[in-house]
Amino acid sequence: MRKTTLNHFGLDGLQRSVATERAPGPGEVAVRMCAASVNYHDLATVLGFANPKMPLPQVPLSDGAGEVMAVGEGVTGLAPGDRVCTLFFPGWQSGKPTLAALKRVTGETVPGALQDQLLAPASSFIPMPASLGFIEAATLPCAALTAWRAVVVEGQVKAGDRVLIQGTGGVSLFALQFARLLGAETFVISSSDEKLARARELGADHLLNYRAEPRWGRAIRKLSGDGVDLVVEVGGAGTLNESLDAVRIGGHVSMIGVLTGMASQVSTAKIMAMNVTVRGITVGNREQFGEMNRAIDLHRLQPVIGDVFGFDGLPAALRTMQGASHVGKLCLDFSL
Ligand SMILES: NC(=O)c1ccc[n+]([C@@H]2O[C@H](COP(=O)([O-])OP(=O)(O)OC[C@H]3O[C@@H](n4cnc5c(N)ncnc54)[C@H](OP(=O)(O)O)[C@@H]3O)[C@@H](O)[C@H]2O)c1
Repeated sequence: MRKTTLNHFGLDGLQRSVATERAPGPGEVAVRMCAASVNYHDLATVLGFANPKMPLPQVPLSDGAGEVMAVGEGVTGLAPGDRVCTLFFPGWQSGKPTLAALKRVTGETVPGALQDQLLAPASSFIPMPASLGFIEAATLPCAALTAWRAVVVEGQVKAGDRVLIQGTGGVSLFALQFARLLGAETFVISSSDEKLARARELGADHLLNYRAEPRWGRAIRKLSGDGVDLVVEVGGAGTLNESLDAVRIGGHVSMIGVLTGMASQVSTAKIMAMNVTVRGITVGNREQFGEMNRAIDLHRLQPVIGDVFGFDGLPAALRTMQGASHVGKLCLDFSL
């Protein structure tokens, strides 16, 4: 079977090898992986700035989908033939995040999805939505669940709420889809008019190019009347102050991304004066993943896929992500 490992940090540290299949031990499941998807976290992992102390060599990629081939002794709830997704945090099954629950990260501290057979504890997988194929399901473990937690679990968006979504990448377009599913009015900002046109096709109500309008926070506040209820913050350090201009008094910022840096000067007085909740988000737990999958099946929600590469396409996919030319998710189809 094929397996790709990251032997040292950098795109040239990725190497494909041949590995032998193993039978699952007690409590384990063997999954034939069929597809994977790429997140910004994978780029940071491969380049070495997500976790410079991560164990190497490591099989990269947190997100994948495949079919259960065999289950070990004592496994209940999964059987051969089941179609499953990986979990970003296999140790976080339910409840609030704890340090222990966030310790194991698929594709970083435990082996990831870029191999034909992934052998792991049964609790590291979850049945995928029945309405999706493997490529679509492979987009869910990190990007979709993060957006679900930001919009549904923590953001508690309801019909008529106003939601600001930064960008048109993986997390952002899932956030747009979930916000629309809940009946919210959506505001999407992007660096490109072409990408904004794609967001319009997906139902975004209001569009703004943040390159053309660098003070977009005030512009969004004006456009929305008295500010938005929720900001899906993927920019981080360089965008939070604008988000604080865009959010309504008593509103909520779901703090997800670090695309513009790790630290900055933030208008803390504005957070206080505006009674804003800034909530850090680290993906979500398995229970929330199950709830999201039910919504995806019920509403026949189709993930937005920007491009599909083959099993050996990870360096190309990561270069595409670095270039930020994509819209939605970048995937790997293991049959290619
Ligand atoms: N905390 C968590 O649990 C969690 C989970 C998943 C992802 N993340 C983080 O979320 C971020 C996005 O991840 P992703 O996988 O969705 O990446 P992605 O697919 O590469 O999407 C990134 C998008 O962000 C937008 N963007 C970049 N700079 C921006 C700016 N200054 N203002 C507004 N939008 C901007 C871009 O949209 P346009 O091209 O349209 O401008 C880009 O498409 C990353 O920082 C990632 O680490 C965090």
